[in-house]
Amino acid sequence: MHTSVQRLNTLVTFAAVLLAVLCGVASFFDGFNTHSVHGTVEVVKIRKFRKQLNGNEEVTMNLNISLDMQSTFTWNTKQVFVFLAAEFETEKNVVNQISIWDHIIPDKEHAKFQTQVPSKYPLTDQGSNLKGKKIDLVLHWHIMPKSGKMIQDKLPLSHFYLPEAYL
Ligand SMILES: *[C@@H]1O[C@H](CO)[C@@H](O)[C@H](O)[C@H]1NC(C)=O
Repeated sequence: MHTSVQRLNTLVTFAAVLLAVLCGVASFFDGFNTHSVHGTVEVVKIRKFRKQLNGNEEVTMNLNISLDMQSTFTWNTKQVFVFLAAEFETEKNVVNQISIWDHIIPDKEHAKFQTQVPSKYPLTDQGSNLKGKKIDLVLHWHIMPKSGKMIQDKLPLSHFYLPEAYL
């Protein structure tokens, strides 16, 4: 015959197992959320392309950015940090990655937008390799969760060529 203590014990154990299973299922689906991010970016205008006094080159530009990051928001998303990296190859470095714009998306309602903005940070080179250089524009994002670990991903959006002469 079961005592009421034993019955309560069984019930509590069952509830704990059920909760563990539900958490497992939830994080399984969260982990498999495919984050289908869509976006376009266009260099509307090169504003400045010049050599700094230290000999390093510097580029500033106007960007037309259009993003749909809504799929990165789940029940477990606190916020999403996005940045646009200008990436290019030089003899010195195989990958040069310079952030030219960034943004924090606080919620799903603000995760789809189109904006025309000046580059927030200049594209600089350690040297002068940029004339006529092909520049890839790659969107990177960090999904900051309410619990669990941060997810990072990226998507190449477009590329452009810098002019052959300074402006
Ligand atoms: C900016 O990009 C959006 C989306 O690609 C496009 O519809 C819009 O016409 C562009 N605006 C300008 C001024 O280039």
